[in-house]
Amino acid sequence: MPIFITFEGIEGCGKTTQLARLAEKLRARGRQVLTTREPGGCPIADAIRKILLDPGNSDLAPRAELLLYAAARAQHVEEVVKPALEQGVLVLCDRFTDATLAYQGFGRGLDRNLIAELNDLAAGGLTPDLTLLLDMPVEHGLNRALGRNARSNLEQEGRFEAESLAFHQRVREGYLAICQNLPRYARIDALGSIEVVEERIDAAVTDFLKRRA
Ligand code: TMP
Repeated sequence: MPIFITFEGIEGCGKTTQLARLAEKLRARGRQVLTTREPGGCPIADAIRKILLDPGNSDLAPRAELLLYAAARAQHVEEVVKPALEQGVLVLCDRFTDATLAYQGFGRGLDRNLIAELNDLAAGGLTPDLTLLLDMPVEHGLNRALGRNARSNLEQEGRFEAESLAFHQRVREGYLAICQNLPRYARIDALGSIEVVEERIDAAVTDFLKRRA
């Protein structure tokens, strides 16, 4: 049975680290797992990612931004996600359609009904089976993200970290609002050591897989 799990959360919430750990754990338990991310996950979508995250593109119009995320997603779903699911591989994706609702909808203020329709088009109707929302106060996440970028000179990753605290607050509140309305969501308290958060995620995923079986 195809299983598609997505990770969501604000900047610096730890989802990329946790996704890699979960993948290792599931592989050790005998599952075939593909890890991928959005925007990106294949060469064409990675090229779009560069445009989207380049701090030099600070004048990118919100509607152009929205359409670029959608274009990257359409390519990624077609080329990577759907073929893997069709082969019975469990797919773990770092961000997906809910990120567009949270960032471009709640963060930028674009029409959320329109985004939902565009998400559906871009994802070819695909929805995650489980979404893990790694939730933490915005200040914690942003401090972590900015520190990480400074340490590794990740200038390409900077366009969203440069947004105001209020923007990120809207994104967090957006995620919490989306999460409340969707049964496929598990909200994970992302404050705590990597190991503690990992255990919380493991419990949520194990519970989901049991219900699924
Ligand atoms: P990342 O930090 O998880 O790699 O994601 C890159 C940035 O892109 C992050 O700041 C969130 C943003 N983003 C959106 O604004 N809309 C989207 O649809 C996606 C997938 C990401």
